Amino acid sequence: MNALADIYTRLPDSIDDLPPPPSEAAVEEADYRSRHWSSPIPGPLKPGSPEHKRAVADMFRETFNPYRPSVINWPKLDPVTLKRVTSLPIWDIAVQTEGKARLRMAAYANLVTDPDMKDAISRNAWEENRHKEVLSKLVEAYGIKMAPEPPYIEPRDVEWAYLVTGFSECVDSFFAFGLFKVAQTSHFFPAELIETFEPVMQEECRHILLFANWLAWYRAVMPLWKRPWFELKVIAVLMFLVYERIGLAKTVDDEGNEHTQDNNFTVTGTKEMSSQDITLADFLEICLTENDRRFSGYDPRLLRPRLAPGLARTALWVLGLFGKKPHIRPEASPAAA
Ligand SMILES: [Fe+2]
Ligand SMILES: [Fe+2]
Repeated sequence: MNALADIYTRLPDSIDDLPPPPSEAAVEEADYRSRHWSSPIPGPLKPGSPEHKRAVADMFRETFNPYRPSVINWPKLDPVTLKRVTSLPIWDIAVQTEGKARLRMAAYANLVTDPDMKDAISRNAWEENRHKEVLSKLVEAYGIKMAPEPPYIEPRDVEWAYLVTGFSECVDSFFAFGLFKVAQTSHFFPAELIETFEPVMQEECRHILLFANWLAWYRAVMPLWKRPWFELKVIAVLMFLVYERIGLAKTVDDEGNEHTQDNNFTVTGTKEMSSQDITLADFLEICLTENDRRFSGYDPRLLRPRLAPGLARTALWVLGLFGKKPHIRPEASPAAA
């Protein structure tokens, strides 16, 4: 376990050794760099080729945003907003998801022998640990009551656990992008809080970009005889995710209070986030637009996750057959900063 904690708490080029960014301009520049990246290598980047693998690792390292959870200035919230934010049924599951993700990614990184992929996935584990730190600072700043965290257990089937985490992130991030946009335009969250969380959202975009490209690379370099078993495993992971998302998880804290956690909040949360009447078709359209916007700054030769956008497009097509077309055209989306 210590070896894994070592991976998710220590970055090879630790930001703790770096001086804090000297100016607001430097922070803005780091933010810009985290959203825009292209490989200088000419020609196609074919999954399985050394060029593709190098590009994936370079993208992940060079788009790193060196923000520090300890210096985030949590905006003061008025009592109504504070109540609204603290009573969202997401904080326990958010903290625990990051805790699990850092451990599972570290466990997988520990097994990977390819130095480029090992570097990228170790960094991803470190960033999940930083997300957990950001959330614990938020919980502390706003006095959110939390259920005790369960022990984080090292996975027995490390590849399975990594696939579960990767696919979960792909689905959750897609809907979270849309939900975040809804929360922003409806002013459910004050602008300062949106701004504080923005780098975390973009970081999840980088994570799923890495996962999609890791998956394509892994499939391409895998011996052919292993592929059928692996594809069955992927199907089993997707079925497990569907099962996991049916229903709510309940935990009980030290004082015997029940905490209900909504595993599907990224999908069901629009009603809570906005007083506007947003239909399912509207929400899916917003998710697709936001998803495209967040990926737009990265080298188009790198693969994008396709599962959640594909499901959303299919659902929109089916809804369209019943005359339920989106009303909202989210052209108000700001361009990638
Ligand atoms: Fe995360
Ligand atoms: Fe992530």
